[in-house]
Parts: sequence; structure tokens; C-alpha cells
Amino acid sequence: MITITDDDFTAFSRYIKTHYGINLKPEKMSLVAGRLHHVIASNKMNSLSEYLNYVQTDRSGQAAVTLLNKITTNHTFFMRESDHFYYFRDSVLPYLARTIASKDMRIWSAACSSGEEPYTLAMLIDEYFGRGKAGWDTKILATDISSHVLDIAKRGIYSNEKIAILPPVWKMSYFKAYDADSSILTDDIRDEVIFRKLNLMDPVFPFRKKFHVVFCKNVMIYFDRATRRELVDKLYELTEHGGYLFIGHSESLDRDKTKYKYVRPGVFRKE
Ligand SMILES: C[S@@+](CC[C@H](N)C(=O)[O-])C[C@H]1O[C@@H](n2cnc3c(N)ncnc32)[C@H](O)[C@@H]1O
Repeated sequence: MITITDDDFTAFSRYIKTHYGINLKPEKMSLVAGRLHHVIASNKMNSLSEYLNYVQTDRSGQAAVTLLNKITTNHTFFMRESDHFYYFRDSVLPYLARTIASKDMRIWSAACSSGEEPYTLAMLIDEYFGRGKAGWDTKILATDISSHVLDIAKRGIYSNEKIAILPPVWKMSYFKAYDADSSILTDDIRDEVIFRKLNLMDPVFPFRKKFHVVFCKNVMIYFDRATRRELVDKLYELTEHGGYLFIGHSESLDRDKTKYKYVRPGVFRKE
């Protein structure tokens, strides 16, 4: 295992914070050492500072991609924090179906990891509208900084263990057997989600239209307070009036600083 000096770790975490917003606290040093050990050794380097220098000078950008894939935490699962999905189904969707005259519903899963969150939304939407979905554009934009998880998400293949939590009727309607241990989402559901790479730290997001609903869950937990506040301000600007922001249950917004109105735990609204 590589040994990391305090100075090396400080420089490294400063780089990560500036570029990706992720706050690597000193207690994460051994985690970082564990995750980067192999990539540093395989590049025949001896220290974190040498590796950081390599990442910063690599013009292809590939070294930074590898680094990000190593340090991000991508844990997710279908129906995670299920009360949010039920609220989305029972309150948000009926409101949107009633009020969006153009039938162009815009939903953004802003740190989608391997796709379970946006695909859960796609299945809920399909079930809600049923045959009435014709005429609606309900495509979901799903973004993440990690190309590794986006590749997994695009394939739409999940172990049967991962989908066990879903209602049997969903498993029958929205999945097909892929092999003995896994299932693949139907083309119809896969086509409902557009995956793109996007860094939430980018100063400007490339969207022409605002969103009716933004899911930005379990990612801000890695950002410090100031970074979180800036991001939430940007999300607010990108939310339609009457639209919603969902954040993780272990996350919080500075309620006196944000313009979003609190609705219920983890759910906020732009009035
Ligand atoms: C723990 S997962 C959350 C997945 C899902 N939203 C959920 O709640 O289950 C956090 C995701 O945030 C992504 N992420 C971390 N920093 C990011 C950044 N600066 N921009 C975009 N995505 C980022 C990671 O790659 C990871 O896939």
C-alpha cells in the first residue's frame, strides 16, 4: 500500500475539492490510499503527489476520469428512500399531469450513479400514465460525473438480487431475463432515460429549458456547505415554478438561505 504524507493528502484533497466539489476529510486518507494503490502502482509511481502531477498534466483527460471513477462513492439501489418515490407518484405526478399543458415533462436525476434512480422514476411514470402516456414526452435526463457508472446505467442490466425489491408486476412488465443471474430493462424503459456525463461543479449547465423535478440525492453529502449552497442556487434557477427538488434524507438545505420552500423531509418546492 502506498504511504501518503499529510502534505500530499492536503494538495490532493484541494485538487478534488476545486474540480469536483468533493470534500475529502483527513480521515478518508486510508480509503484514498486503498482505492488508488493499484492505479498508482500500475503507473510505476511511488507517491500521491507524483500521481496528482500526472493527472494534472495528462492532456487526454483520461487520467482524471480514472481518478474520479476510483474516488466516487456510487452506492445506490432501486426505490432508495422509497417514501420519495411514493410522494413523487402520489402527489408530484398528478400535479404535473394536470398542469403541464405542453405535455413535455422534464425530470433530471442529477447524480444518477448506475441508473437505479432514473429507471425507478421511468417505471413509476409508465405505470402512472399507462396508455395515456401517448402524446407525452416524459424522458428523464440522468447525469453523473463518473463514466464508469454511466456505462453500467446505459446497459440497463441488473442482478436479480438488485431487482428483488421491485413489485412483481414491474419485474414482469419492465424486465426480461438476461442470463441466469440478471435481468435487462425493456427497450421502452431504457429509451425513457437519457444518460449524460456532467460535473455538478461546472459553473454553467448546458440546459435550455428548466426542469419540473430535480432529484439531486445523496451526492451533496460529499460537498462542503458553501459548495452545496452554490449548487442549490443553481438548481433553483433551473427549476420551473411549482417544480420540486428532492435531496437525500441524510442531506439538508440551509432553510434560511435557500429560496426553495420546505415540503416534507428531503422534498422542496419552488413556488
Ligand atoms: C451515492 S451516489 C447517489 C446515487 C443516487 N442519486 C441515489 O441517491 O441513490 C452519488 C453519485 O454522485 C456522483 N458524483 C460525485 N461528485 C459529483 C459531481 N461533482 N458531479 C456529478 N456527480 C457527482 C458519483 O459519481 C455517484 O455516482
